[in-house]
Amino acid sequence: MIHAKALTRTFKGVPAVRGVDLDVHEGEIVGFLGPNGAGKTTTLRMLTTLLRPTSGTATVAGHDLVADPSGVRGSIGYVAQGGMFTPPSLIGAELLLQARLHGHSAREARRLVGEVLERVGLAGFERRSPASLSGGQARRADLALGLVHAPRLLFLDEPTNGLDPRARAELWDHIRGLRTTIFLSTHYLDEADALCDRVLIIDGGRIVASGSPADLKRDHAAATLDEVFLTVTGRPMAEAAA
Ligand SMILES: Nc1ncnc2c1ncn2[C@@H]1O[C@H](COP(=O)(O)OP(=O)(O)O)[C@@H](O)[C@H]1O
Ligand SMILES: [Mg+2]
Repeated sequence: MIHAKALTRTFKGVPAVRGVDLDVHEGEIVGFLGPNGAGKTTTLRMLTTLLRPTSGTATVAGHDLVADPSGVRGSIGYVAQGGMFTPPSLIGAELLLQARLHGHSAREARRLVGEVLERVGLAGFERRSPASLSGGQARRADLALGLVHAPRLLFLDEPTNGLDPRARAELWDHIRGLRTTIFLSTHYLDEADALCDRVLIIDGGRIVASGSPADLKRDHAAATLDEVFLTVTGRPMAEAAA
């Protein structure tokens, strides 16, 4: 579903993404794991046609990124990092607009809106404003906006950022149940572990490791283990601890 070769993006001469190669196959959930500033959003924005690569090539859902951007846009859904709804519009109206923009009839769009709200656990929320939602509900509404037109490939940029543990777990359940190809970014190791078949680790604009969560834990856990064992002898404990 995604084949990218040497994708690069510089901002005013400063490189943000430095030659990223990646492949995502149909049906996979692939995670893009890295710290803030690693280049995750920039890569996702290139793959979703929102940002032109400085160099490199990619096909996304069978369409060439640069030669056929509208073909790419017609096949994907994208949930941006910062939230998707613009108040004061209502949830249902915005979802309906999105479905209509993707070419569905008014009647079909209404059906899709009802269906997608049900899927993300927000049935009956059509007339709610984005501002009235809890953090978890708002992110699930964002997910609905990325999904309403039934895309073959979904991009999620840090989908659970800022949510409490319970809202995160709920959102994970919804994401796992989607049965579509997903490429998601995260800076949470546990999120990549919980959701992804495969993980690519990005740092400083480059992919520095890749594999299944189990492979990565086996190969890298020893090097990142933050555990130090101290053996204290001959002095009282309080003094040793100080
Ligand atoms: N529009 C922009 N103009 C200038 N620099 C940018 C812009 N967008 C991102 N960057 C820089 O590119 C680097 C990667 O950013 P980003 O892709 O947002 O990282 P991440 O999503 O992994 O946190 C950062 O150093 C960031 O400051
Ligand atoms: Mg980002």
